[in-house]
Amino acid sequence: MAELDGYDPRRPAVVIDNGTGYTKMGYAGNCEPSFIVPTVIGTRDGNLARNAGKAAGSIDDLDFVVGDDALAGANAYNINYPVRHGMVENWDNMERFWQRSIFSYLRCDPAEHAFLLTEPPMNTPENRELTAEIMFETFNVRGLYIAVQAVLALAASWTSAQVSGKTLTGTVVDAGDGVTHVIPVAEGYVIGSCIRSIPLAGRDITDFIQQLLREREASVPPEGAMDAAKRIKEKYCYVCPDIAREFAKYEQEPSRWLRTYEGTHPRTQQLWRCDVGPERFLGPEIFFNPEIFSSEFTTPLPTVIDSTVQQCPIDVRRGLYGAVVLSGGSTMFKDFGRRLQRDIKRRVDERIRLSEALSGGSLKASTIDVNVISHHMQRFAVWFGGSMLASTPEFYKVCHSRAQYEEYGPAICRHNAVFDAITM
Ligand SMILES: Nc1ncnc2c1ncn2[C@@H]1O[C@H](COP(=O)(O)OP(=O)(O)OP(=O)(O)O)[C@@H](O)[C@H]1O
Ligand SMILES: [Mg+2]
Repeated sequence: MAELDGYDPRRPAVVIDNGTGYTKMGYAGNCEPSFIVPTVIGTRDGNLARNAGKAAGSIDDLDFVVGDDALAGANAYNINYPVRHGMVENWDNMERFWQRSIFSYLRCDPAEHAFLLTEPPMNTPENRELTAEIMFETFNVRGLYIAVQAVLALAASWTSAQVSGKTLTGTVVDAGDGVTHVIPVAEGYVIGSCIRSIPLAGRDITDFIQQLLREREASVPPEGAMDAAKRIKEKYCYVCPDIAREFAKYEQEPSRWLRTYEGTHPRTQQLWRCDVGPERFLGPEIFFNPEIFSSEFTTPLPTVIDSTVQQCPIDVRRGLYGAVVLSGGSTMFKDFGRRLQRDIKRRVDERIRLSEALSGGSLKASTIDVNVISHHMQRFAVWFGGSMLASTPEFYKVCHSRAQYEEYGPAICRHNAVFDAITM
């Protein structure tokens, strides 16, 4: 505790995971985030501020709203998503968003708490410095640690019965709202050169379902279509083993497979309904057959995962196949893990068969286990991993203190120590 002298250990650390779609926030030691708020901010434009007698560009407390309030008042505000594809893009709005998170949602005094924030893989040192500057100078936080999301997700998988011990080696597949990452981690260190990011995630699946519904169902009102598609996705979608056979099932026995969605028109409040058919399995299928949605990105997720592992040093590959850890809202589809495991395993076995055949039978390669790990903390894996780690005494050893910040400046946050101690 040397670094955070005088810190009252009864005050849990604050854990905030700012995602492209949703911010998960709460206190270390809890199983679930206390608040899940869309990472969106609504501001009034400069004219309104000037009319109110304020300098243009200065936005005080009442001139902005965040989360669902911003989305509900979309007509009255300029809507901005400060995080794009996992990275903070608009720092002024991010600062305002943090202000609301701390003072309106969590209602804590930041001067009395250490903070754990998360960052996507490949975040820049400059972004870390900016975060530190805002956290220490604007909010005067007691301590700060910025953790890599993938490492937190890996730690969250320790709750799974499929995982024995506290391994920090695995391939994290984090599919959220704005981006999907495949991140190999060996002994707690991200193998940076092998990270792959895929431009398909939850928002694309929602778009695709919306397109499919619009083509077929005239009853869907354009105003509410996006929201309906998102709800349909979260409630009815699943991953199937084979699309052709799945289509046949729907034709043979529609009553068994079709679902009915009921919505309310956002303006007229009138009830409307539509049938939900093959979108149920076609939505998440874009991970496995991306060409049905995108002509630009066409590599299936299992292929990306397999080639990522193949690029990593040979001595860690077995561990990387042995723990493919799922994280993020868009991995929640029923049977997602099962299909992923089957498809990766097929590729791995095929490669082994091929190398045996090429050797003319002289080589007998040993099989490789592929385990895709699902667990009940998957939806908020990053946040939950942060909550677990920030409740260990080791957290306070790696956390940067206000005193350090004042002495050395934001550069102390350019690099973050890994939680070595927790693996013991
Ligand atoms: N049960 C569910 N089934 C399918 N999708 C879901 C489910 N629950 C949430 N989602 C989707 O998961 C996405 C949000 O996931 P998550 O909170 O992990 O993303 P994020 O952290 O905001 O984004 P990113 O990690 O890309 O920056 C949304 O697209 C949401 O619709
Ligand atoms: Mg995320």
